[in-house]
Amino acid sequence: MTRDLLQMEEVKRLVRDAYRDVPASTAAVARRLYAADELAAVPEVAVNRSLGVANHLRHADIRPGETVLDIGCGAGIDTILAARRTGPDGLVIALDFLPEMLERTQEAVRAAGLANVRLVEGEMEALPLADDSVDLVISNGVVNLSARKARVMAECARVLRPGGRLCIADLTVEQDDLPPRIATHPTAWAGCLAGALSEAAMIHKLSRAGFRAVRVVHREPLGVDECALYPLFSAEVLGLMRDLPPERRRRLAVAIVVTAELPAADDRAP
Ligand SMILES: C[S@@+](CC[C@H](N)C(=O)[O-])C[C@H]1O[C@@H](n2cnc3c(N)ncnc32)[C@H](O)[C@@H]1O
Repeated sequence: MTRDLLQMEEVKRLVRDAYRDVPASTAAVARRLYAADELAAVPEVAVNRSLGVANHLRHADIRPGETVLDIGCGAGIDTILAARRTGPDGLVIALDFLPEMLERTQEAVRAAGLANVRLVEGEMEALPLADDSVDLVISNGVVNLSARKARVMAECARVLRPGGRLCIADLTVEQDDLPPRIATHPTAWAGCLAGALSEAAMIHKLSRAGFRAVRVVHREPLGVDECALYPLFSAEVLGLMRDLPPERRRRLAVAIVVTAELPAADDRAP
């Protein structure tokens, strides 16, 4: 029998189990990240299960008529906001590997009365989409969950058209920054913390995948009080976080928003 030396299957199983039945968070995460007028446009089913780490859409410059891919759409909060910005001539492809999450997005899309959203079940490591088919990739608190981040970034570059853009939000931690008992805790992986890259590694991997103009456009520290808003971290791991010195407890990670673009067709090497 072949062995999965990168433990990818184990990581995927852990993530699927964590998100399949994730309880509604009573909108605490959404209220922290989005303004009241943004939330007014989003059905409750999506607001109550918002699990992202930042409001990257403020930096995404979504234009009417664009095709946007939302990787790891979850219950659909960013899909809904993006679909309103692309307008009826645009399209948002809402991708998630859990049918349960796609059902929640479907419910939100129906409640919002939107006809420009396509739901796709698939994995971010092998996007079931054609090359050069998307104008903009967005993703909020998802890439960290993969054990194959370079592969995910290569897939983003493959599906984007020449000149296409990327705008993703995720947590970063500086190398060896997390105490081992937290870094190795399964619920810390499901909470996007244990799998986090350093900011420099994130930028490096995006550049290696072919992106240019890679810029960190937003940074926001995340401490134990913010982690406790997510119904993902266990009481045990939150307890380990609370035992840390106050300065560390207030800054376990930094949520960042990164923007990048692919070279335009005429800028590509022959
Ligand atoms: C932290 S939640 C974020 C959801 C949403 N972006 C938001 O802001 O509320 C992560 C989402 O990514 C999905 N996901 C995790 N690993 C995935 C993978 N390998 N391929 C596709 N989706 C994945 C999960 O099912 C979950 O819905």
